[in-house]
Amino acid sequence: MLGAVLSACLVAACGDDPVTAAEYGEQLFQDSRLSSSQFNSFSCATCHATTPTSEAGRIYSGYTLYGSAHRGSWWGGYETNLLDAVNFCYVSFMRGVEKLPADSPQSRALYEYLVSISPDTNAQPLPYTVVKDITEVARGDATRGEAVYAAACQECHGAPHTGEGRLTDSASLLPEVTEDYATVFPGVPASLVFIEKVRHGQFFHIGGNMPPYSKEALSDEDLGALLTFMGL
Ligand code: HEC
Ligand code: HEC
Repeated sequence: MLGAVLSACLVAACGDDPVTAAEYGEQLFQDSRLSSSQFNSFSCATCHATTPTSEAGRIYSGYTLYGSAHRGSWWGGYETNLLDAVNFCYVSFMRGVEKLPADSPQSRALYEYLVSISPDTNAQPLPYTVVKDITEVARGDATRGEAVYAAACQECHGAPHTGEGRLTDSASLLPEVTEDYATVFPGVPASLVFIEKVRHGQFFHIGGNMPPYSKEALSDEDLGALLTFMGL
């Protein structure tokens, strides 16, 4: 088991390279095998940058975790304990069967890693605005929409229409998945079902393991441009 192998590295040297807890945490952060579920293909790095701002051309559903350790509350104030904030992701998105226990080597190493990228001990909590009521958004520019797709959706869903390069076969083909919406959700415009998925992810009785996009993560303007690009 990876966990056992890597936790052995914590107490001793791994091969020739001594591995600190923070370095071990960074490895775990980038490794989908942190979750023992064979159905998981996400790592923490799938959804979070670790630099002060995310790389150019990337839009993540989650905030950058640079500075996250000392924010004091997380998920817009819904979580007041850092490990709970992490475990929410671990269980909801990475199909972790059980929460990582506080005293596990994995939790401690992830904590040390997050502290190592959090130089500001006075960091403030960040806002998190869930779009509860789904309404239409103004359509935007298709070229912008193509860039939004590449930045936000492509890593998981792969190329539009073909899914080429997608992270997991379970990620639906976009926009083709919407072709069934008229039958599955009769009377509801396909665009609204699409917007609801993006805004709610797996929550609000929707299911799956895609993350939701808050207003802060994805603006209505970018979503409107994406809809134009998707032909919705
Ligand atoms: C499938 C996407 C996804 C994965 C995988 C994921 N997260 Fe998240 N995470 C989110 C979203 C969305 C939020 C809510 C927005 C936010 O607060 O950053 C979030 C929130 C957080 C927060 C709170 C940030 C804040 O300031 O509010 C922390 C800390 C966090 N995640 C850590 C982790 C760690 C560590 C892992 C790996 C064990 C992980 N996440 C895996 C999507 C993900
Ligand atoms: C972290 C990976 C990930 C990211 C990023 C992501 N998705 Fe998904 N998405 C999935 C997975 C996995 C599924 C299938 C499981 C589910 O429905 O949650 C899915 C399903 C969907 C569905 C189909 C729901 C259905 O069954 O009808 C739509 C629509 C969708 N995603 C749109 C988007 C759009 C648009 C973006 C970019 C703004 C995006 N996704 C970003 C992983 C992701």
